[in-house]
Amino acid sequence: MADVQIIDVGPRDGLQNEPAIVPTEKKKRLIEMLVDSNVKKIEATSFVHPRKVPQMADAEQVMKQCATFGEIEFVALIPNKKGFERAKQTNVSEVNWVTAATETFNYKNIGMSIDENFAQFKTIVQESKALNIKICFSIAVSFGCPYEGEVAPAKVISLVERAVEAGADRIGIADTIGIATPKQVKQLLTEVMQVAPSIPIAIHLHDTRGLGLANAYAALEAGVNIFETSVSGIGGCPFAPGAAGNLATEDLVYVLERMGVRTGIDFEKLLAAADFAASLTSNQPLGRIRQVEKRGNCK
Ligand code: COA
Ligand code: ZN
Repeated sequence: MADVQIIDVGPRDGLQNEPAIVPTEKKKRLIEMLVDSNVKKIEATSFVHPRKVPQMADAEQVMKQCATFGEIEFVALIPNKKGFERAKQTNVSEVNWVTAATETFNYKNIGMSIDENFAQFKTIVQESKALNIKICFSIAVSFGCPYEGEVAPAKVISLVERAVEAGADRIGIADTIGIATPKQVKQLLTEVMQVAPSIPIAIHLHDTRGLGLANAYAALEAGVNIFETSVSGIGGCPFAPGAAGNLATEDLVYVLERMGVRTGIDFEKLLAAADFAASLTSNQPLGRIRQVEKRGNCK
């Protein structure tokens, strides 16, 4: 039994910015190691334009590999209707529709306005439900934008209201550039939960400024129990220059378990997955716990 749900986004967010193409087989191995660690929901890939994000060009093949892993929920990020058309041909359990809280980021990321993006979202919700594919509505740069600066909470809340009305099955609030403070996280998520009381709310955290764990705790305090993190803290966004990886899954698991919050994840196996994830990327992995374990001290 777990008290919280951790969605590992490493295979997608963690790898998407990696310049050297990771072979599909190795992505499969990473996913397999996460499954082995008892992670029950994994964001495996994204159906985006292969020219924009070459690392995700094998989305269909990755999803095919995931079919061998049984009862695990596999999520794929989609940026537009075409992404949905591709995703629905696969064994995806949930699509993660991404929009941004600011117009500039939305244009840079997916080449359209928020309203255009929203109009497309509305056209796929019913079909998605009919196909038994859950649909999450994620809001990038919910706290701050690399182009427009601080984001007013009202902008995010208005998008949440629209997504709920359109029929989203889950809402994702993303701190894409790792700029939020715990106070902001708690305030915004409290408000989000008020306007979307009957829908699961997830927080997606990047650790750019070392605030990931503090922000996860703030989210927990606000009542959020779904966390999107990436094993070994790998990752970054091609459209947010300088953005670092996600909060490391193992760091979050470590602190939650020590606080008595059950994650259902096998920590030792997760550390093995973290080592493998780190070997796939050229960036320094961010996970702190792994570094301590490797030094062999502070037990
Ligand atoms: N997957 C593959 N190809 C796609 C696609 C998708 N999801 N969406 C559009 N295309 C293709 C179209 O079929 C068209 O192909 P053609 O030139 O052969 O006719 C071409 O791309 C242009 O279509 P258009 O609708 O004008 O798309 P665009 O060039 O404005 O690109 C996105 C839109 C969303 C596909 C692109 O900006 C993208 O992939 N962004 C990546 C977002 C991302 O991964 N961000 C990080 C995570 S948040
Ligand atoms: Zn992210």
